Amino acid sequence: MKNLRLPDDEPLLVWVRTADVAAALPQAQGWLTPAERERARRFVFDGDRADFLASRFLLRRVLAELADTEPERLAFDTSRHGKPALRGRPDLAFNLSHCRGATVLLIGAGAAAGVDIELVQPGRADPLVAQRLFHRAEQIQLLACPRGGYDRLFLRFWTLKEAVLKAEGSGLALPLDAFAALIDDDSIVPLTVPLALAARPFAFGQVELAPDLVCAWTRVCADRQVPTTWQLGASGTVYPAPQVRLGTGSHRPRQAAGLPPAGRKAALAALVLGG
Ligand SMILES: CC(C)(COP(=O)(O)OP(=O)(O)OC[C@H]1O[C@@H](n2cnc3c(N)ncnc32)[C@H](O)[C@@H]1OP(=O)(O)O)[C@@H](O)C(=O)NCCC(=O)NCCS
Repeated sequence: MKNLRLPDDEPLLVWVRTADVAAALPQAQGWLTPAERERARRFVFDGDRADFLASRFLLRRVLAELADTEPERLAFDTSRHGKPALRGRPDLAFNLSHCRGATVLLIGAGAAAGVDIELVQPGRADPLVAQRLFHRAEQIQLLACPRGGYDRLFLRFWTLKEAVLKAEGSGLALPLDAFAALIDDDSIVPLTVPLALAARPFAFGQVELAPDLVCAWTRVCADRQVPTTWQLGASGTVYPAPQVRLGTGSHRPRQAAGLPPAGRKAALAALVLGG
């Protein structure tokens, strides 16, 4: 089964399109635990079942390779809030996200990881959701965005929030406004951070995996290394994936910052963070 040739010491984003791995889904089914098999059985729509199996194909194929074992031998534990972790391998901290037709896996290279992927569907972003759940500065940016760009910008904010909350581990048990950011060209400036992460450095970023797929990632560590992006293909092998980098950002706890904040972005972040 080995041959993915993924680097095992750096952060990785590996994604899959369900349609690309249709032929491998019966094999993935054979790797499932009884509970996962039951979950697969309960899906009403075949498309949802295929997405789930593709997510398990991606997860087990890649983690087995990095853990040097077989996909069906992997065992997972889940946290109080449901975040899965590979049993006995904290060095292989990961996170998974799916949307219709695609799944992405972030391997954090030793750092707690959070990832979110969303499908951009014109006209689907709801301004009332933004009004209720987004930071005021995010709402202002949304209102000012060019015609036709609303859905994408909405999902950029949304995925960033979910990626940070999923790295923290609470998921949507925390409110979406626990993390808020300003998007300024290719830099993403945090405005508020979840309390549980405020004292820890973390880095985040955003990529477009395909023209209609927005993805955000977070790693809870001081190093700002951007994950390399790979795609899992039909034959169960991976290849470097083309992607558009949308931006990166980081949070530094106050005491670790060293220098007084300088510049417009830092001043703005400090203002909102109460500095
Ligand atoms: C995690 C969560 C944000 C997922 O949101 P989503 O946009 O529907 O789904 P995504 O596709 O992005 O992510 C789902 C994956 O995240 C992972 N996940 C589940 N719970 C998670 C958590 N608390 N933190 C991080 N990742 C989590 C799982 O791998 C899951 O995929 P799987 O179920 O196929 O294994 C949401 O389900 C959530 O908030 N869960 C926590 C709920 C909770 O705390 N309940 C209280 C229990 S007491």
